[in-house]
Amino acid sequence: MNEREKNFPALLERLTPECQRIIAQYEQGRSALLPIMHLFQEHEGYVSAEAMNAAAEMLSLTPAEVEATVSFYTLLYRRPVGKYMLQVCRGLACSINGAEDIMAYFRERLGIGHVQTTDDGVFSYEEVECLAACDRASCMQVNLDFVYSLTPHAIDEMLASIRSGTYSTPPMAQIEAPGRTWAISQESEIAGGKRSSGAVGVPQPNNAGGVGDRSGIIMLDHIINHDVEFFTKTSERAVVDSRAVVEVAQEEGSHARH
Ligand code: FES
Repeated sequence: MNEREKNFPALLERLTPECQRIIAQYEQGRSALLPIMHLFQEHEGYVSAEAMNAAAEMLSLTPAEVEATVSFYTLLYRRPVGKYMLQVCRGLACSINGAEDIMAYFRERLGIGHVQTTDDGVFSYEEVECLAACDRASCMQVNLDFVYSLTPHAIDEMLASIRSGTYSTPPMAQIEAPGRTWAISQESEIAGGKRSSGAVGVPQPNNAGGVGDRSGIIMLDHIINHDVEFFTKTSERAVVDSRAVVEVAQEEGSHARH
């Protein structure tokens, strides 16, 4: 048991009255889950397994229900992260306004990539979906505070002022040294018995949805080959060589054009 785990019962005791106050604000207990998780993250720097279990108990939820919610949001971290979480928007409005260049600049200045933390544990960097501030693109959040109209010069100033301890947004709690990434690999989730229902037959399922990922390729295969009752058959088979599917798609596309 590490120091943080040893100290968790005392933290839980200290935060319980605040948790009860939060729970009392809602008609349904489960509505208090996100604010409670934010409260623990504020104190521990991330949402630990102990915090999730404690929340499950307080709200009469299963640990799996809590984890399913926590893992959905990029605002909650399930592993220790840097003292400054830099989340750059890569949504459409920001992309049109130069987000690609901004992201490349961040990666170069920090020497890390997407969902990575610098070796000194100061910065974590992530490229996220639309932050709902499209009218002020390109934008980002620094420890959840918005920063707008990003330029290389503004980024240099921001990083320098964070390093010198003069930045307006305070650092996050960090009671455990972060690793290189806080992302949780899908392999470890599968090893833990979790698996999405759409991933049957796929050894390394990606997040389903995009045509660029493996699930998207499988879906494409179903559509092109017309060999599956799409809405009635639930099990999927893996495409061994996705290039073949793409070639068929291109061929069909060229037939359709002529
Ligand atoms: S696309 Fe960046 S805030 Fe919406």
